[in-house]
Amino acid sequence: MRRAAWVLAATAGVVAGAAASQSGPAHVMYPLLHVHPATLRVQAAPAPPATERVLWNFTTVADLSDWTESSDGTEREVGMSTGAFHLQKTARFQRAVLFSLLNPQPNGAGFVGYYANGTWDLSQFKQINVRARAQGQNYRYKVYLKHHDQLDQGGSYESFFEMPQDSLTTVSLPLDSFAFYYRGRRVDDAPPLDTAAITRIGLQIYGGVYQPEKQSGVSSLEVDWITASQ
Ligand SMILES: *[C@@H]1O[C@H](CO)[C@@H](O)[C@H](O)[C@H]1NC(C)=O
Ligand SMILES: *[C@@H]1O[C@H](CO)[C@@H](O)[C@H](O)[C@H]1NC(C)=O
Repeated sequence: MRRAAWVLAATAGVVAGAAASQSGPAHVMYPLLHVHPATLRVQAAPAPPATERVLWNFTTVADLSDWTESSDGTEREVGMSTGAFHLQKTARFQRAVLFSLLNPQPNGAGFVGYYANGTWDLSQFKQINVRARAQGQNYRYKVYLKHHDQLDQGGSYESFFEMPQDSLTTVSLPLDSFAFYYRGRRVDDAPPLDTAAITRIGLQIYGGVYQPEKQSGVSSLEVDWITASQ
């Protein structure tokens, strides 16, 4: 903090000096206006840790260009499932809709999902929250995460949830509930998720190859927002 204050003061001084020498004594007041906000910033108390971080507010986002499909139909040679992540804009509201068509393999393997790459430090938070409504044939979804440079490797940290039918709900997934799965099978000796260095966040509906309940067919998940909170 002390060092930051010094740097800001020094920068302000340089700006003030430069402006004064260029525009002459009549404009000496001008650079003082620039010094003032820098001084305020230095004196402000450190912000308390946020209790919530909005990862995506789909009621206000401009587009879904940071989301990419990852379905068995795009990832596996034998895959037959597909989907769409669509930004619905009406005169009165806006939200994102994950449409899915699950055409699983005979053993139940199959998935439809969308993800965003990025870098997120969520270490100060305890859970990920999804406000959404599910309709259609299937109600079981998961949020999946990758960390570090895991992006090009198989497997991800996953937390499963079941939505109520046709009712807008906020589902909260504790970050410590994310376990490592490789192609649908849980791997118990994987290192724990590093919540300080998340590099992918995804939303997925699954066939359930290693789950007691299988899913197939057509579904929709209307999503208002995804947040992290304490
Ligand atoms: C998302 O944006 C809407 C509209 O501004 C707002 O009412 C809502 O509280 C926001 N959601 C979150 C989680 O901040
Ligand atoms: C996400 O990152 C991985 C690893 O760098 C890359 O292979 C993939 O193409 C990226 N996806 C998008 C949509 O940029």
